Amino acid sequence: MTEADLESHRRDVTAELRADVREGLTADQKWLPPKWFYDAEGSKLFEKITALPEYYPTRSEREVLARRAAEVAGQTGAHTLVELGSGSSEKTRLLLDALTAHGTLEAFVPMDVSESALAEAAAAITADYPKLEVRGVVGDFTQHLQLLPGTAPRVVAFLGGTIGNFLPGERAEFLRSVRDVLGEGEWLLLGTDLVKDPETLERAYDDAAGVTAAFNRNVLRVINAELGADFDPDEFDHVAHWDAEHEWIEMRLRARGRIEVRIPGADLIVPFAEGEHIRTEVSAKFRPDGVEAELNAAGFALERWWTDSQERFGVSLARSVRA
Ligand code: AVJ
Repeated sequence: MTEADLESHRRDVTAELRADVREGLTADQKWLPPKWFYDAEGSKLFEKITALPEYYPTRSEREVLARRAAEVAGQTGAHTLVELGSGSSEKTRLLLDALTAHGTLEAFVPMDVSESALAEAAAAITADYPKLEVRGVVGDFTQHLQLLPGTAPRVVAFLGGTIGNFLPGERAEFLRSVRDVLGEGEWLLLGTDLVKDPETLERAYDDAAGVTAAFNRNVLRVINAELGADFDPDEFDHVAHWDAEHEWIEMRLRARGRIEVRIPGADLIVPFAEGEHIRTEVSAKFRPDGVEAELNAAGFALERWWTDSQERFGVSLARSVRA
């Protein structure tokens, strides 16, 4: 494997998890941030999810990018492709291929919280695009955006619909922070899952094979491993609930009975009533007008809006217009 060029932001991951667990599991309505799903096992489960028949977002977004990558290249003339929360997907390659063919691309900057996932992805890209400068950045894109390398114009790609994991206020703050690291005339390529019938949405988050349920429960295994907790994941039911008011899917872990969990690494004992749940993820779904309004509010102008043939998933190409 080729050695990848990685830049690391110093983080104490265990301390961050401890703080999140203390805050989330002592709240009236218990919750945990979705970023803790993604240890090695959780990342594998997510890769499996993307191939499930019920989980359409990955395929729908891929369809859009396959059709539109050349337009992204033509419109942006990007010298640098930055990918937030990169993973390892072939969607990146669709963009890299188009930007390479267009003749402007110099550098690829994947950013991810997982150093191992990032190193692997960066090495694979380096091997297949030998002329490309690949500079991985290990970090949390809600905190470490300041130092994104690469020459302008850059395209920052935030794909998969992951922006839906933020609550509305956090979303506005995040978009603003992306805008703030870009110069005028640089670009954001944003993937957003769209509002559709609740059955399709709930099935996408509660598949027949139970992969999403295992992914959801994995956060409890992560807390067991990192903080010495004694969660029994089998004592929690996986729930995917469409919240029609907020227009988001909520994933929950619901206690099957009265449970008491010890979490020595967070100095905590957490009681659950029967049926009480932890909210483990919000996955917001969008309407085209809403996406444009949010982009405008953050200082972006929407230049292109594309959907897949079934209008399930939207991809925006937005230009940064003012500081
Ligand atoms: C990776 C955040 C886009 O919200 O659809 C998949 C994660 N959760 N199944 C999403 C996820 C349950 C996914 N994102």
